[in-house]
Amino acid sequence: MKILAIETSCDETAIALLECKGDESSATFKILGNSLISQINIHQEFGGVFPAVAKREHAKNLVPLLLSCLEEAGMLREDLQAISAELHERITQTLAREFELSAHFFEALSEVEVPNIDAIAVTYGPGLEPALWVGVSFAKALALLWDKPLIAVNHMEGHLLSALANEQIADNTFKIADIQLPLLGLLVSGGHTEIQEMNPFGTYALIGQTRDDAVGEAYDKVARMLGLPYPGGPEISKLADSARERAGENPYTFPRPMLHDPHCDFSFSGLKTSVLYTIKGKELTQTDRENISLAFEDAVSEVLYVKTKRAIEQTDAHTLAIGGGVSANKNIKRYFQNRLSAEYPHIVMKIPVPLLTGDNAVMIAIASYYHARLGQFADVETLSANGNLSLAQ
Ligand code: KG4
Ligand code: ZN
Repeated sequence: MKILAIETSCDETAIALLECKGDESSATFKILGNSLISQINIHQEFGGVFPAVAKREHAKNLVPLLLSCLEEAGMLREDLQAISAELHERITQTLAREFELSAHFFEALSEVEVPNIDAIAVTYGPGLEPALWVGVSFAKALALLWDKPLIAVNHMEGHLLSALANEQIADNTFKIADIQLPLLGLLVSGGHTEIQEMNPFGTYALIGQTRDDAVGEAYDKVARMLGLPYPGGPEISKLADSARERAGENPYTFPRPMLHDPHCDFSFSGLKTSVLYTIKGKELTQTDRENISLAFEDAVSEVLYVKTKRAIEQTDAHTLAIGGGVSANKNIKRYFQNRLSAEYPHIVMKIPVPLLTGDNAVMIAIASYYHARLGQFADVETLSANGNLSLAQ
């Protein structure tokens, strides 16, 4: 089954085309086209993501991305590319001005041969609602124009299920393997920190979540305090690595909020505030910045692990999938690997391949495949974006 997927929930505009085969426990996903434009440089100026700016950029990026994705998949005829180039210039200008899909959009797309796809998938939440709406409207328009079924995907389910498809079996082809239920999903991104239990496949129960900041958000805020650019996760991680290489005593240590509380919820705002108080009024040297980053990352790793451990005990999970932007963090990953192999050697840990840790449309196609197999299609007339969409029903 060939699925064209669209992702616009935050600051990445992405479109991917995948060929998906097999059943849930051994599905394979071949990436035929994968186009993405990151808005990070634009949002860096503000130190965070501004919804109105994200919306404008998504509107500007979608048509060029669609065309490049189809081209990569060999589904755009050359003569049409020339026509499209001129037309999509017009529509991108219109989209950027009006922030909505216009008649020009249909005009341009009617020039493009209906591609050989079976369905169109789109992220409808959670995320920035104005940004989500751009993708949802675009997907609906395509579904109508090309007469294809529409699949609505939860962004967090995309992060979770793409972590499972982490076995590369050929160029651009990934496979799901070794999945034993119950499965726990630790979802760590800029907007979310939660533990979901999946059992049976595709059915979720919320086991724990942050009561304040998301872990990625804490990284971003601490990075800002240390004068580092957005997004903060990779920057802090680099500094922490330098401190680790230097070894020796770290004069800094930060609290592990709610570590011993008898539930699986998290809190990261106290940790962030503790960093703030520590650095307030101080002239920080580079060594201080590195040591603070290390102490922060150690606190985050331990809290994430101990809460996950509690969830493992509660659910008797056999598989742990870690998904979301923070899953790119090598130190957290190493911390989990070390402790899991010592304490729960039977648990298989799944982390997305580097291509799929941040936001992307491949993960949306992967998640949509399961809904398609279950016959779960969205209504083109009524589908709405939902910024607060949750995974567990
Ligand atoms: O999933 P994602 O790309 O977007 C959302 O859905 O939010 O996650 C973005 C978050 C940002 O807060 C970013 O700082 C964090 O993921 N992040 C990291 C790393 N790479 C990205 N955090 C820690 N370590 C990293 N290597
Ligand atoms: Zn995400």
